[in-house]
Amino acid sequence: MIEGLAGPLRAAARRFGTPLYATDLATLHAAADGVRAAFPDPWLRSFSLKANDVAPIVAEIAALGFDANVVSAGEWAVARRAGMPNARITFEGIGKTDAELGAAIRAAVAGEPLKWLAVESLDETRAVVAMVRRAGLAPASPLELLFRLNPDVTPETIAGLAVGAQASKFGMTADELTAAVALANTVPGLVVRGVHLHVGSQLRAIDAWRDAARRGLAVVALLRGSLPRFDTLDLGGGFPVLPAGEPAPDPARFARELPELVDAIPADRRPTRLAIEPGRALVARAGVLVGRVLHVRDRGGRQVVLDTGMTELIRPALYGARHEVVALTSLGRPFERSADPADPRLEPATVEGPICESTDHLGEHRLPPLRRGDLVAILDAGAYGASLSSTYNGRPRPPQVLIGADGSVRLARARGRLAALG
Ligand SMILES: Cc1ncc(COP(=O)(O)O)c(C=O)c1O
Repeated sequence: MIEGLAGPLRAAARRFGTPLYATDLATLHAAADGVRAAFPDPWLRSFSLKANDVAPIVAEIAALGFDANVVSAGEWAVARRAGMPNARITFEGIGKTDAELGAAIRAAVAGEPLKWLAVESLDETRAVVAMVRRAGLAPASPLELLFRLNPDVTPETIAGLAVGAQASKFGMTADELTAAVALANTVPGLVVRGVHLHVGSQLRAIDAWRDAARRGLAVVALLRGSLPRFDTLDLGGGFPVLPAGEPAPDPARFARELPELVDAIPADRRPTRLAIEPGRALVARAGVLVGRVLHVRDRGGRQVVLDTGMTELIRPALYGARHEVVALTSLGRPFERSADPADPRLEPATVEGPICESTDHLGEHRLPPLRRGDLVAILDAGAYGASLSSTYNGRPRPPQVLIGADGSVRLARARGRLAALG
């Protein structure tokens, strides 16, 4: 996405300093349009805030026809701040506390239920049932539940992102899920609505997703026989955004699998609501992390050390993700990337972050001559960048700017304060 953005990114770095996250709204809108076109109405579409939890970005996505999918009271609060009512918020996740479950139940008691709560286990179902009984949740204002299925598939992604594998910690077996549904169904005030699953992130092929969808549909079909309102299948996220040149199925390719699978189910057992909750596919390409060069030195090859790294973008250190690094300036002058992959101005360099960990390493890149103070952009950093950042090494979180279609730069979130550290 960098073409045409180098000027605004340099201007943003001058104004707000580095490190800096920037989100290009035109790229964000194009990504949202792509996912919406692949999964048009009546598909239910939610944005997974875990990929990017900056409220103004969530608000942009909400305006583009996506609800919010949250995993904590914190993400729920961000979704509300972004203007979403509870009726547009789904709450899932393995880590829900009693306080969070209680808040979901109180919202229903107050007549503002979440769109649904996806329960993770039989234990969590027992906790919800006990709390709902105590709260005396009235059937007139119920809390709707989905049940997380472990789809027991072999996702075409790295182990760290293969959430839907049988050995992973997420979701229930079909037997556990059936028991959880039976338990919740005894309680006035709870409505058992369907199955939730997520196969994994960065899926490089559609096979595991298709297998998981088939299993989810089978569980819905089985339970729908006796539970007419059990009508929803949420297939999670996982649509990939890979470095340029690496082939990946687009969202439409996943969507094309569904009709045949649904048609194979008897008409009265089919889900009437299908849902997705992508994160990365919406925000990854729109985001850039801008940093400055601190050191350039010879280590048997050129080594470039930046003022940004794993604290702002942990994916390379966490699971070896590759993010392209491009120069915005060279020897103090503006630098524009050319389309020529053999651009003679570029030479190899090993790029490192500034953190006191040797895993803070951004890989090999082709960059022009650089010196201390030059600006670089780390691409495709809009997903799992800011939301996975830390203040390790005493680094306040960077500011966030939004870049408009006219190149204008607007501050969406200020730099964290030194005073808030420690
Ligand atoms: C349950 C669930 N839904 C959705 C997502 C979003 O995944 P992605 O950003 O790959 O679309 C995740 C990511 O971990 C998830 O665990």
